[in-house]
Amino acid sequence: MFTRFAALFVYALVFIGATLVGAAPMHQHVARQIGDLQCNIDRLKIVGDIFQASQTTKTLTNQLASDPANAALVSTVSEGLSNASSGIGDIATALFTGQQAPAASRTQVEDGLNSAFTAANSITSTNTAVTNNVNKLKSELQAAGQAGDGVLTNCN
Ligand SMILES: *[C@@H]1O[C@H](CO)[C@@H](O)[C@H](O)[C@H]1NC(C)=O
Repeated sequence: MFTRFAALFVYALVFIGATLVGAAPMHQHVARQIGDLQCNIDRLKIVGDIFQASQTTKTLTNQLASDPANAALVSTVSEGLSNASSGIGDIATALFTGQQAPAASRTQVEDGLNSAFTAANSITSTNTAVTNNVNKLKSELQAAGQAGDGVLTNCN
């Protein structure tokens, strides 16, 4: 719990920092790019959802360590989340330096979440502890995808 809030706090500072840095030059396109409140809420939400999905994925990695087929799927989930996170990191860096969010990074976030979901959706198990976590993971990935849609709608 502590790490989760600590991570969110850091991202909040980055986004608030980006907003303040962006506000200083008063270039209109920069102000638009930095976004309004709903846009920043959606950004924080996708970061939080991806963080939660990563925590659930870690638990599943342990639960499925001796199940090679499912372990391979969980590893694809991790890779998709890692790709999505690095896309978000690139977007945050661009915003922080007053540049436009790169379209390729947005695609990377979307593709990463999609491959994570497809892999998670392919995990089959008779162990309810596993299926409960798979369902939790899928909800977290869907929530991240919805927050991502919110970013696309509200951050232009
Ligand atoms: C992660 O990104 C790399 C490089 O773009 C790509 O080759 C790989 O397929 C991606 N993995 C997933 C699971 O999306």
